Amino acid sequence: MKVLLVGSGGREHALAKALTQDPSLSQLHCAPGNPGIAQLATLHPLDIENPNSVAALAIALDVDLVVIGPETPLVNGAADAIRKAGIACFGPSKAAAQLEGSKDFAKSVMRDAGVPTAKFATCENQSEIERALDLFGAPFVVKHDGLAAGKGVVVTSDRVAALHHALKSSRVVIEEFLDGPEVSLFGISDGETVIPLQPAQDFKRVFDNDEGPNTGGMGAYSPLPWAPDDIMEDTLKQVLNPTIQEMAARGTPFIGLLYAGLSLTTHGIKVIEFNARFGDPETQVLIPRLKTPLATLLYKAATRNLNGTTLEWKEDSAVTVVLAAEGYPSAPKSGGVITGFSVIENVQIYHAGTSATEQGIVASGGRVLAVTGIGEDLTEARNRAYRSISQISLPGSFYRTDIALNASVAEKGN
Ligand code: AMP
Ligand code: GLY
Repeated sequence: MKVLLVGSGGREHALAKALTQDPSLSQLHCAPGNPGIAQLATLHPLDIENPNSVAALAIALDVDLVVIGPETPLVNGAADAIRKAGIACFGPSKAAAQLEGSKDFAKSVMRDAGVPTAKFATCENQSEIERALDLFGAPFVVKHDGLAAGKGVVVTSDRVAALHHALKSSRVVIEEFLDGPEVSLFGISDGETVIPLQPAQDFKRVFDNDEGPNTGGMGAYSPLPWAPDDIMEDTLKQVLNPTIQEMAARGTPFIGLLYAGLSLTTHGIKVIEFNARFGDPETQVLIPRLKTPLATLLYKAATRNLNGTTLEWKEDSAVTVVLAAEGYPSAPKSGGVITGFSVIENVQIYHAGTSATEQGIVASGGRVLAVTGIGEDLTEARNRAYRSISQISLPGSFYRTDIALNASVAEKGN
């Protein structure tokens, strides 16, 4: 099977690695890719935001399957253009990607599908905003309606700050605060059948102890020793299945990865957000633990053939820690040279915002590397990830030191 993978982050590096481990893969192409993915795939320059350019590359390479990593090509309609060319695509259509592209759309699907989520109001002017802030009370949750790379959401007890953030966008969703622990649980869907992956937890705030602004994600781990045993079945029944059925009933089937961001509240599971693609950095802990050959799995989903498929997982635990550039998330600094990529057994260094230059590998994005440790338990996985990342040097860079810390302590207590 010839596969084209679209994207250039740590998520795509992890996907590329697993795709190349599937015996049915004959060629892997990636566009635009990064220096890490270059070790595994043939790279091609590409304007991924232009659906016709993406489809043209897939046609030119004569691939059997296109896998789309990031949300922007999906929301722009890349999957539609690829399917129109008669090529299988793992990734939802423009219409189905609205589950991520519009918070308001996602809420309407959840309402019609009976999926539990926070109560909300969509507001378009100051008086509507103020009414909603007063209705739900502090802590205030204010979300810009469109795509915002994880940065359009403000959660604050400061009403002035909440109002200020709300007024920056012409359309905002204001909602009830959900106080449970957060879990990311993904479903692989062929439009009708959906299969849950194991749960992972992401660390969204930039600094230790969940301080500072939201980011794209600073680290993740899986499995979750503290989560209820039936979390996958429960999420399948309450969230993934009804959402996939509702999208099919609307005539816009969702083929791809449905990312459910959940809060495990005292009143049960509630959806915080949907994304229409693999999470980053959750993919960097989930995909190394998946035994099922990935290219075959994604091809089955893309060709509406998932029925009867079951997934196999390794018993291992995985922890990933993101190395961020100085100034991330507001103003990440590019160009610093990265050194210290030592090879440690059971550690995978996934490239994200990196470029190859004459000086060596340099930082070219906010999240530079995602370092995943694998081990028998979270403690071992964590130790490996931190041992590796502590040897990497990039001036001004930083990482959180508490990824999976509480879970690994709790695990030892069991
Ligand atoms: P989102 O982009 O919707 O995932 O929001 C980003 C982050 O903001 C989430 O991961 C949560 O940490 C937080 N958040 C969003 N909505 C809520 C909510 N209703 N209650 C509590 N926290 C929330
Ligand atoms: N880990 C958060 C995201 O992928 O949006």
